[in-house]
Amino acid sequence: MDERDLLNTPLMRHFVSHYANPAGPDLLARTEPFFAWQDARRHAGLWPYSRSLEAAPDAECGVRSELGELRVGDNFASQDYLSLSTHPAVVEAAHRGIRDHGLHSAGSAMLGGNTAPGLRLEAALAEALAMPHVALFPTGWAAGFGAITALVRPGDHVVMDALSHACLQSGADAATRNVVRHRHLSAEAVAESLAAIRARDSANGILVVTEGLFSMDSDTPRIDALQALCGEFGATLLVDVAHDFGALGPGGTGSIGVQRMLGKVDLVIGAFSKTFASNGGFLATRSPAVRQFVRVLAGPHIFSNALSPVQACVVREALGVVRSTEGEALRQKVRGNAVALREGFAARGIGCLGDPSPVVPVPVGDAAVARLAAKRVFERGVFVNLVEYPAVPVRGSRFRMQVMAGHAPEQVRRAAVIVADAIDEAREVVASGRRRARVPARYASPVGAD
Ligand SMILES: Cc1ncc(COP(=O)(O)O)c(C=O)c1O
Repeated sequence: MDERDLLNTPLMRHFVSHYANPAGPDLLARTEPFFAWQDARRHAGLWPYSRSLEAAPDAECGVRSELGELRVGDNFASQDYLSLSTHPAVVEAAHRGIRDHGLHSAGSAMLGGNTAPGLRLEAALAEALAMPHVALFPTGWAAGFGAITALVRPGDHVVMDALSHACLQSGADAATRNVVRHRHLSAEAVAESLAAIRARDSANGILVVTEGLFSMDSDTPRIDALQALCGEFGATLLVDVAHDFGALGPGGTGSIGVQRMLGKVDLVIGAFSKTFASNGGFLATRSPAVRQFVRVLAGPHIFSNALSPVQACVVREALGVVRSTEGEALRQKVRGNAVALREGFAARGIGCLGDPSPVVPVPVGDAAVARLAAKRVFERGVFVNLVEYPAVPVRGSRFRMQVMAGHAPEQVRRAAVIVADAIDEAREVVASGRRRARVPARYASPVGAD
């Protein structure tokens, strides 16, 4: 196959968004155009999603594509930042949890699904975050969506960073039509929105939503400035610490700890799935009233089975490691790997986005280049996630690489070379294809519009 022949086809030019709103009366039949496009990408090796791991998410592992193709190689696609999912003490805690509590919570948290390990985990999180009241959720997504939809009513307002995670965006949209999305990381834009809302509405609440570490860009807002603005305008701040809690900051306290805001943020939500070796999420608050209100009014808390006791045991053990000197050493390893990976790309003229963290976003830009590069990277045994529109801007395709404590320096060096080589080669294929077709680059680049 001459890859250049694909350049001007839907395989390269279309995004999921082209197929996301099909028309027609048959809800099932109208999924077919999407499937045809996706399947063509899959068979051309250009659908780098929905792969499966053959074993634990280790730094080196076996990965199978949806077509069943198996590669063994270096894993920069898993979210296990401190490599705790295979830590002996954490694994042992899972075995003990199964032995003592069985496998399943067997009920929603409202209806018998709370467990002794879950209560102990709530207390441990409360201490770690200096927020005395914690509610658990079955996933991080459920914590974000559930907390926002429980607290925000249709007359209220949400002011959120435009790049907030889907669970926060969906929660805001489900709760109210009064959602303002502001320029990424801009405290000035937040101040303007809060002033404008308060000038016309002093009767309703305002929730300001941000993240401790944005996972597509590896950057962080001024949490202290946002909390001060909320105080000034009678608003409430919610910070989602899914990616930074455990993996960054003193004692693993994340960006909130780095900014000396521990115990001072109105609402903290998070996920266990990046650092704590389990599914699950939480809301932490200083108010017992808020905790009880959210537990009873958040749909995912009462209408979904609770975190299992095994998960609670795993997360509590992982939290113990996170807060120990061993945890500090693991964070140093992650940071060293992140810096080394970024340096590897810098040496090839590629400036990774944001600041050093377990997330290393490698900008590519053009979706056609990114898809061809992703194919090469997989074939050469490096596993990375390709992020495309609409998760990032149309011309903002990137690889999101995630480093773990368990990566060896040699793996990191090798991965930077393999990914950079793949991007260079893919750029050459695309440039050559466009020269051949004599299409000016500004028209040939994939867009979300055709
Ligand atoms: C900021 C943020 N919040 C929430 C979630 C959802 O967490 P989970 O995958 O544990 O449901 C994620 C990631 O998936 C995230 O990045």
